[in-house]
Amino acid sequence: MFLSKEEEKILDGEGGWALERAMRLLTTIGDLNDAERLVPIKRSQIAGVSYKTAGGPTLHLVEELAKENVKVRTKATQNPAGMDLERWREMGIPDEFAEKQLRLCRAYEKLGVRATCTCTPYLSGNKPEFGEMVGFSESSAVAFVNSVIGARTNRHGGLDALSAAMIGKVPLMGYLIDENRIGNVHVKVDFKPNSEADYSALGYYVGREVKIDEVPVYDGIRNASLNEVMLLGAASAASGSVALFHILGLTPEAKNVKDAFGGGEAEYTIEVTRRDIESVYDELSTDEEPDLVAIGCPHSSIQELKRAAELLSGRRVKKGVKFWVFTSPEVFREAKKSGYVNRIKSAGGDVFLNTCMVVAPIEEMGFRCVYTNSAKAAFYVPRITRGKCKSGMVPLRKCIEICTTS
Ligand code: F3S
Repeated sequence: MFLSKEEEKILDGEGGWALERAMRLLTTIGDLNDAERLVPIKRSQIAGVSYKTAGGPTLHLVEELAKENVKVRTKATQNPAGMDLERWREMGIPDEFAEKQLRLCRAYEKLGVRATCTCTPYLSGNKPEFGEMVGFSESSAVAFVNSVIGARTNRHGGLDALSAAMIGKVPLMGYLIDENRIGNVHVKVDFKPNSEADYSALGYYVGREVKIDEVPVYDGIRNASLNEVMLLGAASAASGSVALFHILGLTPEAKNVKDAFGGGEAEYTIEVTRRDIESVYDELSTDEEPDLVAIGCPHSSIQELKRAAELLSGRRVKKGVKFWVFTSPEVFREAKKSGYVNRIKSAGGDVFLNTCMVVAPIEEMGFRCVYTNSAKAAFYVPRITRGKCKSGMVPLRKCIEICTTS
């Protein structure tokens, strides 16, 4: 990969060990992927923030970087942490976990990575523009900014996103390049989605069917909301590794068939029927009763909070089960102003920030079964808790019926 004189100096250690290692990681990734050169970025989303998933080695590394006075060169935001940074006691987070989590978030802040702690940075002040190249980690955010905004990012891990933020550059490769953004799988949606969970199940099904680096083009989706597209993208990034998808007539690089497939044809077609969607619900189900019903994977949009508040009207959360919504600080502020937060709380539910049902240590908090409207969350909960917590996926309406009485 071509490096400028300045980049070579960094690689030779002239900027210190931290920048040298960051540059080494980026050039290794670039070389392995035949990148021509590095290109500048102005924005980053950094995963590896929850102490549950990042652990001691990440805490040690980020604290060491902070001691070295390293600063990121991009507008950078943190992914969800393992707890609400203020109300963690109310969530039932163990003290020892909280102490380490707070240290990790503070260390990232010292590097200049804002503690927004959300997987929807594009709803919280870190929204790229169409065509802008960025360095995002967090698979759901990657899928969203690539597909729905038409910005350009590869699917970075936490460490390479942090390295890219420190250097202010990413290797020019993958989804940054025009030809890799062309759709190559035609997804015929042969059923009418009836709920947000149906979109999530659709994404989950398609993510499992396509191969790595393929770009599905959904054909047959009309009028999907922001919330529904967020759920779809997060699910296909979880069950497969879809970093970019198009929806014909809806997303910016798929205004028509010619745009979506770059004037060519799909390599193959997947037809998705109601029966396929039902198979996803069957797979992501359990016979157990939930002790936690949680939505907000990805972090709830204002529309999802509004709908939750409306569905809770005249209902009360039952004893022995909790109803929690996870969202970002900015959306929370808006929801509070609109009265949705108070409506959810007065029905016995709660709204937490900075975390979610997957990256919080829910098994240590005593939960044994989570119901959610997100295929991504239903997929990850049993895996990340090593089977200690079961999961089930049902639409939001049903989530609320299950955990409340009228
Ligand atoms: Fe976000 Fe947690 Fe889901 S980080 S996409 S809410 S698993």
